[in-house]
This record gives sequence, C-alpha cells and structure tokens, in this order.
Amino acid sequence: MITNDLARATTKQSPLTEPDLSVGFKGGQLEDWLNEGGEIEDDNLLIHGDNLVALDMLYEKFRERVKCIFIDPPYNTGLGFSQYKDDVDHAGWLKFMEPRLSAMWELLAPEGAIWIAIDDHEGHYLKVLCDRLFGRSSFISSIIWQKRAVPKITATNVSSSHDYILLYAKDPSLLNLNFPSKTKEIEHFRNTYPSSPLSDWAHWESAEKTPIRSLWLSSEVGDNEEAKSESREIFPGDPFATPKPERLLARIIEYTTATGDIVLDAFAGSGTTAAVAQKLNRHWISIEAGEHAITHARFRITQLLEGTDASAPTLDLNQMSQKAFKTLTVDAPTKNNEAQKQ
Ligand SMILES: C[S@@+](CC[C@H](N)C(=O)[O-])C[C@H]1O[C@@H](n2cnc3c(N)ncnc32)[C@H](O)[C@@H]1O
Repeated sequence: MITNDLARATTKQSPLTEPDLSVGFKGGQLEDWLNEGGEIEDDNLLIHGDNLVALDMLYEKFRERVKCIFIDPPYNTGLGFSQYKDDVDHAGWLKFMEPRLSAMWELLAPEGAIWIAIDDHEGHYLKVLCDRLFGRSSFISSIIWQKRAVPKITATNVSSSHDYILLYAKDPSLLNLNFPSKTKEIEHFRNTYPSSPLSDWAHWESAEKTPIRSLWLSSEVGDNEEAKSESREIFPGDPFATPKPERLLARIIEYTTATGDIVLDAFAGSGTTAAVAQKLNRHWISIEAGEHAITHARFRITQLLEGTDASAPTLDLNQMSQKAFKTLTVDAPTKNNEAQKQ
C-alpha cells in the first residue's frame, strides 16, 4: 500500500529539472490558494515548480478526486533538449519517478486511470516500477502509439516508430472507458475484412460496446510531426522541443472523463494536456518546473481563453465554456502575494 509518507520521505529535488522561478510572471502560492479554500470549479491550476512538492501539497484537497492523469515525463533518452534535461543515470531516473508516481496514484479517483507516455529507453523498467507501486492487477494495457509515420533516416538499423502509453486503473473493476462509436468500429471491421462471414458481423452488431484498440495510428491521433507543427504555430520562433499532438490528448481525455471531471498532468511541458482539457470543458491541473510553464503553457492557455489559439481547428471551440485559470508557484511562500488569475 502506498502512502503519501513515501512520497514525503523521498528527496524532493528533481535531478532533471531544477525549478526556475526567476523568469517572467510570478503568480501566487499554491499553499495560499489551498489555505484560502480555492476551488478547482472556479479556477483551473497551472503550477510552476517541482511536481513532487506540488503533488504533496495537493494531497489533502485532491486525494482520490482526479479522474484522468496523463504524464509525458522526460524519457531519459540521453539527449539534452533546449527546454529541459533528459540524461540522468538509469537508477537516478527510477528514483526520480518513484515518489512522483506514488503521489499521483493517491490523487487518482477510484474509477480513474493514469496514462504514461514512454519509449524503449526506460519503458520496460517503468512498467516493472508501476507494477510494484500500483499492483500488477491495476495494469490495463500498454498502448502502442505510432509516433512516426516514416522511418528516421539517421537511425541505426531500426527506426523507432512507436512510443508506449502505459495504462493503469485505480480499480479495474470500476474503470468504465468511454468507448469509441460502435458504428464506426463496425464500418472499420467491414472495410478491413470484407470477406468475413456474415456471422462475424452479426456478432459485432449484437455487442453492447466495442473495446478500445491497443494500437493507435498516427492517422487517428497524430504523431510527433503533427505535434511539432502545432507547436510551431502556437509558439512561432520558439516551438517546444517534445510536444504531444492535441489529438492524442483528446482521445485520452475523452476515453477517461466526462465534462467537469479533473485531468492532471504533472509534466506539463508546453501545456498540451491543459489546452485540450480546457477545450473539452474538463477541469485541469498542470505542473511544470521549467520556465516554459510561463513562456509556453501559460501563454498557450491565455491565447486559448482570448480566442487567439493557433491550434484551434483541432477541436470545436464552440463547446468550450470560458473558464479562468490561476498560475501558482510552489517555491517558499511569500506573504502578501495573492494568487492571480492567469
Ligand atoms: C516531455 S516534456 C512534456 C511535454 C508535454 N507533454 C507537451 O505536450 O508539451 C517533459 C516535461 O517535464 C518537465 N519536468 C521534468 N522534471 C519535472 C519536475 N520535477 N516537475 C515538473 N516538471 C518537470 C520538463 O521540464 C518537461 O517540460
């Protein structure tokens, strides 16, 4: 059984990204917002600072309230990206992830699910870690997401075309994903296997719902190329190095949540999860340690609320009811520093 004490007991320092709170906007303190009885129904939260510190603070108020967690942590590729480090030793990476995963698990609602994007560098070790922390029986699937539609020409021997998205449910017996349209899936089945006997189709037609597929094609949910092109449009001149496509987040959020549910991303990067959750009328909490919490994520959500979002065509913005968000920090509390909108 994981307790929050485990998270507390482990070092709060991130070896990957030291929070840089010196840049640009300084919002209020998360601690003050919590003490003053802030409500997620009034304001979504963009938190600038180390996620373990923030998750620890969120524990009391948000324990078992979050319906969907999506994280896209540094994969430990050995590369240095312009916006964050991605090269720690393997043991250090696992040590970094462990308390953060434990802290997130505690926030997950009984019927909630966590989706974790990862690649071959740490993916298999992460699976073992998650099995240990969450319990093997909580494992639902290792989704294969086609991140690249054509081979990377500079790759040696094998060009990796996919990432994994590990899916765990807090309680698999309560997980009730919003399944894709049955009609669409039947059509897909008929087109894929036109010569299948009619009895197979009948079986499909009588099924109450169609489960989700574990193979997600780039044509359905976008790929890295699409994500980078979205990022170039949203942040001309300063695109984010490793964004995820909005269509991928839309699928995850729509499968797991209903309007008004809470979505959490503790490795927010350029704010893709928050932007999509905002567009889909979900409440959201996003945490990011780097200065791009302000220069990218905050900028992106502000544009969205102001109606000037460059990636708007990916989703129907008419559905979005305008909601405020607060940018809060988790550095040492300073008095008289009121939480500010946006
Ligand atoms: C792969 S990126 C996420 C990209 C994001 N999915 C997007 O679409 O833009 C991983 C992010 O985790 C952030 N990060 C690393 N360590 C962190 C920590 N301890 N607390 C909060 N964020 C952290 C990095 O700064 C980086 O922005």
